[in-house]
Amino acid sequence: MAFNPLTEKGTPLEKQIRNWKQLVMAPYPKQLVDAYTRCRIILMNGIENEAAIFSHQFARQSDNKELLATLAQIRRAEHQQQITVNYLNPADATILETTIAYEQVAVDLTSYLARTEPDKYVKETFDFGLLEDFDHLYRYSQMLDLIEGKDPTEITQNKTDIFPGRPTQDHHNDPILRLREHYQKNKAHPISKVNILTLTAAEQQTWMFYKDHGWEYGSPELRQLYAEISNVEEEHVTQYESLMDPNETLLEKWLLHEYTECANYYTCYSTESDNRLKLLWETFLNYELEHLRIAGEMLKKYEGIEPEQIVGKELPTPGKFEENKEYVTQVLNNTVDRRLTVGGFANKADLPADWPSYRYQDLVNAYGVPSETVVSLRIASTGEELIRANPQLVGRAAQFRIEALDANPAPNTAGAGLEETEPMVNRALGPKQAMESNEFADMFKK
Ligand SMILES: [Fe+2]
Ligand SMILES: [Fe+2]
Ligand SMILES: [Fe+2]
Ligand SMILES: [Fe+2]
Repeated sequence: MAFNPLTEKGTPLEKQIRNWKQLVMAPYPKQLVDAYTRCRIILMNGIENEAAIFSHQFARQSDNKELLATLAQIRRAEHQQQITVNYLNPADATILETTIAYEQVAVDLTSYLARTEPDKYVKETFDFGLLEDFDHLYRYSQMLDLIEGKDPTEITQNKTDIFPGRPTQDHHNDPILRLREHYQKNKAHPISKVNILTLTAAEQQTWMFYKDHGWEYGSPELRQLYAEISNVEEEHVTQYESLMDPNETLLEKWLLHEYTECANYYTCYSTESDNRLKLLWETFLNYELEHLRIAGEMLKKYEGIEPEQIVGKELPTPGKFEENKEYVTQVLNNTVDRRLTVGGFANKADLPADWPSYRYQDLVNAYGVPSETVVSLRIASTGEELIRANPQLVGRAAQFRIEALDANPAPNTAGAGLEETEPMVNRALGPKQAMESNEFADMFKK
């Protein structure tokens, strides 16, 4: 292995605290930034937030003065890193533009992790989540066009397809079904541990962003879309974190967090095209090497465990962003009909009539689902839904959007084209008014 973070020397902790001017760097210009540079910034912000949140949780469960002091010192550095990374985003990026970038992160990160994942069950779980975030990208893209008049490829730079995945209305599951079986800490490959922690951090970041910012739009349809998809991101956090072994001690988990930060910064550093940011990733990698060394010392001191026993000797490359269009198309073709069962998966055709997620969907989708409304609105507005895809997919959108639905489609499911789509007059009304207005809508047709 070319690079082993456990044997490298990092930046001493006292040199990691920076002044306010150093903390906030000039933001990237959104018209010029490479799509995958933006993805790395979004991912590392999520990784740093997870590091800080975990450290606080650890502190609340420890009565060891030395550990509390060490966690407090490192946590301050993590906080500063998070600010520096997140504040690279420019003020002129709108919430919807950032949202498109978040879903691009989810699609290309999950694809890369699934492709490199050694554990079959974990890979299957990644593939399952992949098709959901892929569909979110498509649903939000309809609204980026309608609300802000922008094309999503201005953000994705055509590196990621915009096309229906597993329909969002079918992402709403009984909470218990999202829980997966966890890995065994002494048997799992360290790459799996890092992959799972990386993806959990990214999904947690997405969940927080949607629930904290969706209300900032005036459009009721868009506010509802954020409400709906933030719920799915909460399901994703539940899904991925449940893969982790809860029998790992807090010290083991801390080591794994620092190792994951090292692996991600190292990958960012080795793949970055922007020289200014390459230097930043290298600087922060050096910070993390010291965090990792200290966490390793604490693990040895208090539990007698060598860090290598937890993380092994092969450095994973989780944060590698590259095109995955072919991979996504293949997963879409093979697994769009997959649904969750207790700890496993089943084909939608094989689900029992009392499948718990039907009950859940009947509740939340009762008066129509926002992720279908946005497609109907785009069709009503321009005559077609917004697709930016791979030539082998174009033309198959309605097939995935309608045929992939399970047995209880939402009452407002968008049709294949203009004629089959709900009239515009219903769009801003509540369910009762919308039902009453159907006659009114019929008058327009005559
Ligand atoms: Fe950090
Ligand atoms: Fe998503
Ligand atoms: Fe997600
Ligand atoms: Fe760290």
